[in-house]
Amino acid sequence: KIAGPCGLVIFGVTGDLSRKKLMPAIYDLANRGLLPPGFALTGFARRDWESQDFGQVVLDAVKEHARTPFRQEVWDQLAEGFRFVSGSFDDDEAFDNLVATIQDLDRVRGTGGNHAFYLSIPPGAFPVVCRQLARSGLSAQNPDQWRRVVIEKPFGHDLTSARQLNKIVNEVFPEDSVFRIDHYLGKETVQNILALRFANQLFEPIWNANYVDHVQITMAEDIGLGGRAGYYDGIGAARDVIQNHLLQLLALTAMEEPVSFHPGDLHAEKIKVLSATTAASPYDETTARGQYVGGWQGGQKVPGLLEEGGFAKDSKTETFAAMQMDVNTRRWAGVPFYLRTGKRLGRRVTEIAVVFKQAPHLPFDSTATEELGQNALVIRVQPDEGVTMRFGSKVPGNTMEVRDVTMDFGYGHAFTESSPEAYERLLLDVLLGEPSLFPVNDEVERSWEIIDPVLKQWASKGVPEKYRAGTWGPTSADEMMARTGRHWRRP
Ligand code: BG6
Repeated sequence: KIAGPCGLVIFGVTGDLSRKKLMPAIYDLANRGLLPPGFALTGFARRDWESQDFGQVVLDAVKEHARTPFRQEVWDQLAEGFRFVSGSFDDDEAFDNLVATIQDLDRVRGTGGNHAFYLSIPPGAFPVVCRQLARSGLSAQNPDQWRRVVIEKPFGHDLTSARQLNKIVNEVFPEDSVFRIDHYLGKETVQNILALRFANQLFEPIWNANYVDHVQITMAEDIGLGGRAGYYDGIGAARDVIQNHLLQLLALTAMEEPVSFHPGDLHAEKIKVLSATTAASPYDETTARGQYVGGWQGGQKVPGLLEEGGFAKDSKTETFAAMQMDVNTRRWAGVPFYLRTGKRLGRRVTEIAVVFKQAPHLPFDSTATEELGQNALVIRVQPDEGVTMRFGSKVPGNTMEVRDVTMDFGYGHAFTESSPEAYERLLLDVLLGEPSLFPVNDEVERSWEIIDPVLKQWASKGVPEKYRAGTWGPTSADEMMARTGRHWRRP
């Protein structure tokens, strides 16, 4: 599907996200022929740039980060629609200039008065920008022209602040014009969870407490936090990714079949399962948190968090977080969902592992099954995207010995089509007005409600346990699993 006539305004256009993700995604969309010919991109920031300077910044970003090859004719056509408006968010005149710029674009590019406003800015700046969009009339809804707002996480830092933010945004934009980005939902492999579950007969009959022992959702990163202290200090791993990405993965894994894939039906199932989800307690036993110290990664010595500039010397910010979630439904009663994430771990990998119960009876000699583990279905979100099934198989030879083997589906082998980058997919959906992949306000609020009690308990405790960079996190994370006789997978 190709987007109709429209324009996009990015606030915070000088930031990292804009340079690394948004600008390249816009170019890639244009290159794939998915943007309308008159598409317009306006940058808004304090910098004293002219439109040409902005164009150069976009060009550099595209050359460095775009996925598709550079084609001069695509670029020339796209760049003609670039504008830059300089000013601060509380500057009425700058917003009046933005109005004039947009009106001009409607005329010369034929954007039809349809515009999306992307707030790639800290949440503290949402209120003032929303107020300005309302004051200048830019947010005004009109049946013939759409106006949408795109907001980036973090949506607050707890339930109360999230509610306040949602209220401020909803005073200016009706909920169906609000697109909250959770870029994990833009990933092909994440959307595939629903295809895997609901397009097949194979998995759904065993996708429940009768057969599943537990589920592990891991989002491990090898990168540290150098340069991100301003955002991350005081936020930590649970707020940064568990509240959003990992709870969304849990929702897609645990939810019931939606009536259809229409946005309302999908949201209804997601909110239902999130409403039934709680963090297991007592938190001392069911959660773990850590902070990395210096270590070795890929043969390189790397500094600890507190040596990376910008973090308070006594920072309690966790860079590793693990917690057990319970999904209190008939399907999942008694099946723990373990979520974990961390920076500077052994390697970069995101996966969902559905680990099955042992067969109720094994008609083998006990020594024959020593190397047999539990069956598992592992959805590899990234990298090396695909799905692996682990099961026992007879070891060739003259005895009946069984051992774990794997059966593998990899995107690279199975498909010739390439996956769009998450932001490419999500930006296109904003322009198409297709809201399925965007969490709505009650999902965001419910997710805070789930993790708030854990965060509160952590805040009343001392500093997180240290773990060495390049390892798989603090020992308390292993202990948390060992208490129930389980262990984390080593992806
Ligand atoms: C972001 C977090 O939402 O996701 C970052 O703020 C994290 O801390 C990033 O590094 C990871 O995204 P991806 O797509 O590389 O897994």
